[in-house]
Order: sequence, then C-alpha cells, then structure tokens
Amino acid sequence: MSGHVAIFAAMKVNRYFVIDFDSTFTKVEAFDVLADISLEGHPEKEVRKKRIAEITNKGMDGSLSFRESLEQRLQLLSPEKKHLPKLIERLRSLVSESFKRNKEFFATHAANIYIVSNGFREFIEPVVTEFGIKPENILANEFRFDEQGRVTGFDTENPLSANNGKVEQLKRLNLPGDVYVIGDGYTDYEIKHAGLANKFYAFTENVERESVLNKADHIAPSLDEFLYLNKLNTAISYPKNRINVLLLENVHPVAIELMRSEGFNVETYPAGLDEDELCEKIRNVSVLGIRSKTQVTARVLDNASRLMVIGAFCIGTNQIDLKAASRKGVAVFNAPFSNTRSVVELAIAEMIMLMRNIADKSAKMHQGKWDKSAKGSFEVRGKKLGIIGYGNIGAQLSVLAENLGMKVLYYDKEEKLALGNATKCKTLKELLTQADVVTMHVDGRESNTNFISQAEFDLMKKGVVFLNLSRGHVVDVPALRANILSGKVAGCAVDVFPYEPISNDEEFASELRGLPNTILTPHIGGSTSEAQENIGNFVPGKMMDYINTGSTSNSVNFPNLTLPTLENAHRLIHIHDNVPGILARINKVLADNGINIMGQYLKTTEEIGYVITDINKEYNKDVIKELRAIEHTIKFRVLY
Ligand code: NAI
Repeated sequence: MSGHVAIFAAMKVNRYFVIDFDSTFTKVEAFDVLADISLEGHPEKEVRKKRIAEITNKGMDGSLSFRESLEQRLQLLSPEKKHLPKLIERLRSLVSESFKRNKEFFATHAANIYIVSNGFREFIEPVVTEFGIKPENILANEFRFDEQGRVTGFDTENPLSANNGKVEQLKRLNLPGDVYVIGDGYTDYEIKHAGLANKFYAFTENVERESVLNKADHIAPSLDEFLYLNKLNTAISYPKNRINVLLLENVHPVAIELMRSEGFNVETYPAGLDEDELCEKIRNVSVLGIRSKTQVTARVLDNASRLMVIGAFCIGTNQIDLKAASRKGVAVFNAPFSNTRSVVELAIAEMIMLMRNIADKSAKMHQGKWDKSAKGSFEVRGKKLGIIGYGNIGAQLSVLAENLGMKVLYYDKEEKLALGNATKCKTLKELLTQADVVTMHVDGRESNTNFISQAEFDLMKKGVVFLNLSRGHVVDVPALRANILSGKVAGCAVDVFPYEPISNDEEFASELRGLPNTILTPHIGGSTSEAQENIGNFVPGKMMDYINTGSTSNSVNFPNLTLPTLENAHRLIHIHDNVPGILARINKVLADNGINIMGQYLKTTEEIGYVITDINKEYNKDVIKELRAIEHTIKFRVLY
C-alpha cells in the first residue's frame, strides 16, 4: 500500500497557471492608461479615446482583425518611449487587490506561472516581475521604436500580434501538465476551447463580460477564490467573496462600496427586516450591518451560526441583544463619534437663537407681526456655558463655545481632561448656580432618568437657557414646562423626548408644544449628510479590522484589544466563556505540539474571554482541532 502511495506522489502532475494581464493582473486596460498619458493636452484627446474604444469593440466582435485593430489603435495613441515610465508607475499602483494580497502565491509558484497577454512586454514585465514572475514566462508583444523613441509598430512575427495569438503561444509552450487559465476575456477562454487548458476561470474582480461568464468552468470574483478552489491559499484563510455581508436599512453607499472593494459578497436591502425574516436571512450571513430599526434579538442570534460581526450604523445599540451576541461570540461595533460635530453645531446654533428669542420672533413674522425690540436679547460672548456630561459631544462643544468667547464650565462623574480654558466643576450644584446656559450631554443610562428635575431647576439662575440634545428621559419634562411658564427658564431647545414617534405618520405629543421661546426638533441632532458618510466609513473599517486582524478596539460588547498587524505568523483567535483556566489550556495544547508563541493577548469582560495568539508558521493542523475542542470555546478562527 505504501508503495502505491509513493508512486502516486511521484506521479503528481505539474500545474501551470496562465494569467492574463489587462483587467486581470491589473484593474485596468493598459491602453486606456496609456491614452491618458500619451494624449495629455492633445486637442483631440477625447475624440481619439472614443475612437480607440470603437476600434477595440470592432476587434472584439470580429469585424476587424486583431492586427488591424492594434495598428489603428497605436496610431491614435501615438505612444513614445518617454511615456513608458509613467505608464509603468500607474500600472504598478493599479494591480488587482486580490493579486496584491496573494503575493506569496506568485513567489512560491513562480516557475509555473505564465503571463500571456496581447499587450506589450515593455510595460508588463516591470509590473509582474515585482511579484517574482520570471521574464521568460511572460509572453507578450513588443514595440518597435524609431530613433526619436516613437512607437512605429510591433513585432509582427509574434503570434500575439494576430488573432488566436494566445492559443498559438500555448501550443508552442506545450506545457507538460495541467493548465489553468485565469482571465477576463474571450481570448483567455479560447485557450481552453482549443483543448490547451484543463480549466478556464473567468476573473470578475474588475470587469464582468457576459460572453465569458457562461463559458467558464468557474467564476472567480477574486484570486482568493481561485486559490481556495485549488487548495493553494496561503495569504488568507477563506476567500472573501464567500463571506456574505447583509446590509439593511439603506446604509450609506460609501459603506457598500467599502465592503465590496474588500472583496466581500454584499447584499443590501433598503428597509429593515422583521424578526422572522431576519431569522431566515441570517443563516448564511457572516457580517450584518443595520441601523436603528432592525431588532437583533436572541432568537435571531440563535439562527446565526456563521455570524462573526454586527455593525450598527448609528450611535445606539439598544436594538441589539448585546449579551446574547457576546454569548454567541459575535462582536458588535457602532459609530460612537461619527455625528459628534453635527450635534455640537446644532447646540451652538440653538443657544444663539434662544438668547435672541428667534423662535418666537420668526413665528410672529410668519403671522405678519413685526416685533422689533432688543429686550431680552443677548450675545453669547462672555456668557457662562455649563456642560453636563463631558464626553465626545460635551468636550467638542467646549472647544467650539470657547471659540465664540463663552466661558465653559463642565461637570462629569468621570475624571475628564479639561480642554482649552474650560473649568471643571466638582459638583453639579457648582455648575447649575453659575451657568447662563445649561446643556445636557450625559449618556442615556437608566440611572440618569430625571437627572434634571425641579430641585435642579431651583438651583439654576433666573433666565437660564436650557438645552437637551442627549436623551429624552434625562429631563423631567413637566418640571421643564413649569419652569418655562414661570419664566425661570428663558428659553429651551429640546431634540430628544421620553417617548418619540415611531414613524413620520405618528403625531408628536408633548407638554412642551406651544411653549414660548422653545425650539423643538425631531431627534435630528446627529442627522446630517456628513454624519451619515462618516458612519458609512467608520463602521466598515471597524468590522474589516476585526475580520482581518481580530482587533476589537471600540467594540461595544467585546473586550477591547488593538492588535499589531500580523507578520510571518498565524493568528489564532479564541473566544470563550469567561471561566478560569482557558488560557492555560490553550497554551498547554500549543506546548504539547511544540508550537512557538510569538505574541499573546488576553482580555475579558464579565461574559467572555478573548485570546489572540500569534504562532510561527509551521504547525500541525490537528492543533486546530484540539483548540476547538477546548471546553467553553464559543468561537475559534485562524488568520493566515
Ligand atoms: P459619551 O458617552 O462620550 O459622553 C457621555 C458623558 O456623560 C460621559 O463622559 C459620562 O461620564 C458622562 N455622564 C454620564 N452620566 C453622568 C452623570 N450622571 N453625571 C455626570 N456625568 C455623567 O457620549 P456622547 O457621544 O458625548 O453623547 C452624549 C449624549 O448625546 C448621549 O446621550 C447620546 O445618546 C446623545 N446623542 C444624541 C444625538 C442626537 O441626535 N440628538 C446624536 C448623538 C448622540
């Protein structure tokens, strides 16, 4: 038996990889980039580029031979030797993302990798040899130059200058083994069609051509997929295109774009999903993005066996059962300061408006009443602003208000660094008795319910201006109403309410309606385009960091660990119930298997423990099984 195995191993066939250049190795067609360089400043640039595209199409539909199309395009391009360095530099920066992250594949299999292209060696070679590809394995055309360095033509003897060139080259190569072709174009498929390749993989990371997709043995949305299918992957553990991302509730397009460009398989929905729909949909999903409407309940999480991470594209995370998420080993991220600035700007605007009685004055004007008077109108300059809750928003407001010439006092239950010339108050009373404007920026924890009620209003100065842009329940609303009506509070702005309508169709009911000098807004403090875009950028960044490196910084339910990038090591990510002794057991498995630990990080919350272990490259795959089998393991994954 063992003899058979040995013979079989010796007979193992060689595998050759034939890879296209334009729109496969690089994201672009090199001639498009060349046109921008060689025709720069040319009065006919746009006309010529259009003409080049037309000729390319004619070449593709067969109404022009490849050679004719090449001649005509080169004439329109008028390239010169001096354009090449710039072209090469641009192409180097435009190598396909999945090629960049799989450099190791090229280095390891250099002897068996061929670049076969109808393009030109002069720009292909400098780009691909950086990946370890051998110059002799590059099959491409070559330019002919005149003495002034202008391109006059190409090597007409080269089969790649004519139709069916790739097939002809492959025949001449006569590769002794299995041949896999990866490319985006029909000429790549032709190699397989001619019986010269075992498989053709349609590469769709940069372009998708209908004519090629249905001819392909496999569609490869990235090189990761190709390597995974052929068990050649080293740089990544699992092809990103197989990781399903579900983005609900119309998250900002920038987020969708970010997730797609990372190579994930992204599905989007404009609305939220109800619990039953989500329970069904979540089964194959690894990454979930929601806003505030979607309820991620324990039942949803029970159906989410593949789920790794949830991104809340908003500030609040009450809609997610965080405890259940932790128990399932699902990390949750939100966007805690993406709309900070928006809230601060509104607060500044409102305090100025209130100090000038603008709400009432504007309302009267709409009724045709001209009420010109300076009575009860003040500048904010020199006034004392009392900020309660000196977190992200409070601290930023402090800086902007000082720039307007206000004197800032703040009160926070935590020790907070005073920014600029702000003065910290030791007690709430100290702040309330001095401030001309009191503004609420505490978080919405339950114990902050009715944080400001009659007793606190009693301490405030007469004629104080009061703002609440934090959470509705932190202020006793009937008490606020009474103090407005008594004149103790000269004006107020309220953006948040103990009960807020579920939809725009529901009427807004509140004791604050109809009060003088009272600005009411429908919880829009953080609602700006900029904030939405910031959120769209921030949350995917956090989720991808977690997937790619295991970093949990800013996670709302996982222990926060910021990790160094992984170099020349495997990273083992172990999430477990927080019971004693797990780290010791992990390390025992590693020690028993003679594995060298290069770095290790552990952090726990009450619920879970999070251990990251970086180990050197060689290890026995059984180790993974043993680590998975450790009791109390919630989730385990390996990064390569
Ligand atoms: P944060 O968590 O950075 O800051 C809150 C601060 O309040 C912390 O420094 C905390 O120590 C302090 N604090 C909490 N309870 C306190 C107490 N009882 N006494 C003294 N200090 C206390 O939060 P961030 O990002 O600054 O947000 C502040 C508030 O604004 C939150 O309630 C948030 O929900 C709300 N918000 C409202 C928006 C809107 O559209 N109106 C948009 C964004 C946030």
